[in-house]
Amino acid sequence: MRLKDKVALITGGAGGMGAAEARLFAQEGAAVMVSDVNVEGGKKVVAEIAKKGGKAAFVEHDVTSEAEWKAAIAETERRFGRLEILVNNAGIFVTSIIEKTPEEEWDRLMDINGKGVFFGVKHAIPAMRRVGGGSIVNISSTAGIVGSTLEGAYTATKGAVRLFTKSAALQGAKDGIRVNSVHPGVIDTEMLAPLLTDKFRKFLLQRVPLGRLGTAEEVAKVVLFLASDDASYVTGAEFVVDGGDMAK
Ligand SMILES: NC(=O)c1ccc[n+]([C@@H]2O[C@H](COP(=O)([O-])OP(=O)(O)OC[C@H]3O[C@@H](n4cnc5c(N)ncnc54)[C@H](O)[C@@H]3O)[C@@H](O)[C@H]2O)c1
Repeated sequence: MRLKDKVALITGGAGGMGAAEARLFAQEGAAVMVSDVNVEGGKKVVAEIAKKGGKAAFVEHDVTSEAEWKAAIAETERRFGRLEILVNNAGIFVTSIIEKTPEEEWDRLMDINGKGVFFGVKHAIPAMRRVGGGSIVNISSTAGIVGSTLEGAYTATKGAVRLFTKSAALQGAKDGIRVNSVHPGVIDTEMLAPLLTDKFRKFLLQRVPLGRLGTAEEVAKVVLFLASDDASYVTGAEFVVDGGDMAK
């Protein structure tokens, strides 16, 4: 078991990649605090994990609220004794042409995808320092590495996460806290579902050298590696999980 007796908090754990990470982490021996604004979905993931003999709990948590971040970390420590792994996974996606993007949409994307990660790192560092170190995995995107004709504000948030991760890695290193970013490409989750018309799916598939969309489980396996001691010398790094898209 690669996370035996570790304690992890996963934001946005009610669905998509966050839920896949929660299931895999529990299977690998971690106690998992699933956090999300989606209470029903989050509790369902926890119940599934418990049914398979895993250890998990749910906390309602909006990542844009600093007070809720403090409460989520405190609840993780209360339930499971400590915090060693944080996956900053919660996020939203909006396709928008820059000149048609309203200010409120920019702010909402920045709040959830950007500020949410900032708060997470800010409050996880002292908690991890208390237990001698830890691992933080920030979920960015390939849209945090290259520009996009379809997304403007979203790319800005994911680019911010990419570089913020490197600063956090530098600041966490002396305390044994590793911080890395993961950059999924086109992954088949609820986030993309409303956009996946046959035509758009075909367009996306042409883009991906491996010729198919990725799965949440394929991303979760990379996140697991970074969360585990197998990645003990890996920090400040970025991992692309995109079927080869960024190789072009
Ligand atoms: N699906 C993709 O193709 C893709 C590609 C690259 C990056 N990503 C990133 O991966 C992460 C997970 O995406 P997904 O595809 O699993 O999406 P998803 O929509 O399936 O899941 C996202 C989860 O985040 C939660 N969430 C949204 N706002 C929140 C908030 N304010 N506080 C707490 N939780 C909140 C949602 O309730 C949901 O459960 C996101 O950060 C996303 O930007 C996704």
